[in-house]
Amino acid sequence: MTSTENPAPKHIAIIMDGNGRWAAARNLPRSAGHKEGAQAVRRVIEAATELGIEFVTLYAFSTENWSRPKEEIDTLMNLLEKTLDEYQKSAEKKNLRIWVSGEREPLPPQILQKIDKLVQSTAAHTGLTVNLALNYGAQQEITYAVNQLLAQGKTQISAQDITAHLYQPLLPAPELIIRTSGEQRLSNFLLWQAAYSEFYFTPVLWPDFDKEELKKAVLEYQHRHRRFGGI
Ligand code: FPP
Repeated sequence: MTSTENPAPKHIAIIMDGNGRWAAARNLPRSAGHKEGAQAVRRVIEAATELGIEFVTLYAFSTENWSRPKEEIDTLMNLLEKTLDEYQKSAEKKNLRIWVSGEREPLPPQILQKIDKLVQSTAAHTGLTVNLALNYGAQQEITYAVNQLLAQGKTQISAQDITAHLYQPLLPAPELIIRTSGEQRLSNFLLWQAAYSEFYFTPVLWPDFDKEELKKAVLEYQHRHRRFGGI
């Protein structure tokens, strides 16, 4: 690292986009794109561990995703359930800690049970923390924080109060937010935490994202000049 480089980010947050287009380009059903997207999740968790990243937040299902056709929602819930089962088996060996950010309602009870078990059984692990943004919306998260503060009887709140009442108060703000598939917007993702994040947009579709792509993003981040409002 030279003096002008940033250290590697501690927390990378990813908007995994382009599963549908990946499938359409191959004349495959959208479900095939999501399935391949789940493989990319595996690769990226492995790569992040190797790169010594401490936290990865993955935008797995947004509050707006409920408006998709039922068949597609079912595919995504099935993939998620499979992934939770897989991590229940392998998280110990990989030393992964699993956190979840989002609202519980209306997630199916069997998913909630699996999440609770996985979060509980990995809480003491010291490796990569994988934070699944699931049934997640950033406006809902900020509203949740404010409502917690109101319930405590607060009549005036600070920015620190809100930060301390987000879904995962111990999660540091992401230094780097990646969005795949060429789209360049936040889509209700981490609006509060993104105040000083660096953004990395790549045309690569999520199912094609891998260790090399993650390394490219980290390298570009390391060469950005972060000023935090200063000069
Ligand atoms: C965006 O692609 C992706 C999603 C809506 C969900 C992300 C889900 C996965 C990567 C698979 C499973 C994840 C886990 C954690 C098991 P899109 O459908 O919006 O693609 P498009 O814009 O090309 O249609």
